[in-house]
Amino acid sequence: MGNNLINFAYNKFARYVKPALVIGVGLLLSSCGETEVKKPVKFIPEIQVPEIKASEQIPTKSKKIVQISEFLATVDGGKVYKKCQACHVKTGEGVPGAFPPLTGRLASLLKSKHGREYLALVVMNGVRGEMNIDGIRYIGTMPRQGGMTPEKTAAVLNYIMTEFNGVATDDTDLFKTDEIVKISTDNGRMTAQNIFKKRATAFVKEQ
Ligand code: HEC
Repeated sequence: MGNNLINFAYNKFARYVKPALVIGVGLLLSSCGETEVKKPVKFIPEIQVPEIKASEQIPTKSKKIVQISEFLATVDGGKVYKKCQACHVKTGEGVPGAFPPLTGRLASLLKSKHGREYLALVVMNGVRGEMNIDGIRYIGTMPRQGGMTPEKTAAVLNYIMTEFNGVATDDTDLFKTDEIVKISTDNGRMTAQNIFKKRATAFVKEQ
């Protein structure tokens, strides 16, 4: 009777529990195996360093320099002008008696050393004095504009020239950053009144 019970129990074990255990352990092992296989995600591919020929080294270097100057040239003058349009308005026509127009009368300044210098200094440091433009008097102050880097100064001046003063976008007289840097270092930080004193030599007709 006792033996029968043991036999019965063993038969049940052999028939159901044993295969279940075998399958269970098998699944466990195979899933372990899978995670083992997935682990090598961290596998670091062998880095292949291409051989650099001596003749290729110089072009690689100059390419970098070209990229940097292209970046500087991509400062958007129109975006910088948003700073100015609060006073000179979007079209550059200004407000008679308050903010002088920047349209149709500044192109000649590009042709003279004094004119170029005056424009760069005004945009960076502001200007203060009496101006008579098209029979209208302006006795105001343009405050010093913060954050005007040489790149931004060149870009906004070129924007004014090409958008409001009919200068072609490929005109070689347009401003380059280097020139603004030079004007800035040659003159230092000037007061708006002293910049105004340079206006007389900048304009041929208007004063
Ligand atoms: C807060 C108002 C204001 C802002 C902002 C301003 N300006 Fe002016 N700007 C003036 C005033 C006012 C004058 C005339 C000052 C005077 O009467 O001496 C002037 C004069 C000028 C002149 C000289 C014009 C001439 O005939 O001599 C230029 C060029 C100029 N601004 C360009 C700019 C540019 C570019 C910006 C933006 C970077 C700018 N301004 C931002 C108010 C402003």
